[in-house]
Amino acid sequence: MFYFNLTRMLAIRILISILFYTVVTASDSDVKEIMEADGIVPDTVDQAPSAKIDVIYPGDLSVEVGGELTPTQVKDEPNLKWDADPGKYYVLSMVDPDAPSRENPTNREMKHWLVVNIKGGDLSTGEVIAEYRGSGPPKDSGLHRYIFLVFEQKAKQIFDEPKSPSTSSDNRRNFSIRTFAKKYNLGDPLAGNFFHAQWDPYVDERNKNSS
Ligand SMILES: *[C@@H]1O[C@H](CO)[C@@H](O)[C@H](O)[C@H]1NC(C)=O
Repeated sequence: MFYFNLTRMLAIRILISILFYTVVTASDSDVKEIMEADGIVPDTVDQAPSAKIDVIYPGDLSVEVGGELTPTQVKDEPNLKWDADPGKYYVLSMVDPDAPSRENPTNREMKHWLVVNIKGGDLSTGEVIAEYRGSGPPKDSGLHRYIFLVFEQKAKQIFDEPKSPSTSSDNRRNFSIRTFAKKYNLGDPLAGNFFHAQWDPYVDERNKNSS
């Protein structure tokens, strides 16, 4: 009786481990596939990352790869987590290639967030080039893609770039994360995630208080 229970418990534990492993790895390998399917290759990068960045907005709102969120939901900076080596330095970017619209992206890309020299996975150690500015898609411009990418640096380095405060769109248009990555020798992105968003009334409210 005792041995029977033990065997059954062990079998259940193994089954749970297999299920958990399948779910976790499936969601990770999907990042690349979903990014490719939504044109992020070639619109933004040549090579999509296979690892996922966990992106969690205030209110415990987790970004589902390729899902849809509202500008209101993403107005404040999220927490990010990726599989980071504590001894390495990273670059984090968030861009919108669909500016002012996906149909006619003459301002591709809009730089929403850019942090460099991030030690390990700790964003607070990084040097902020562009402060977080949430999604602000113009009215009637359809769904935009908001893409998070993490790159691994070879070492701590100097980035000579104009700074952007969160309240301003200055220095944010016509950015290219591909060109930036080439300029600083960052290689292909290590991890990523993205969501879609379209206009909601919060965008107009925010723009009233911006330059
Ligand atoms: C961005 O590029 C467009 C052409 O696609 C150009 O008309 C515009 O002046 C540029 N804007 C900035 C801020 O450089």
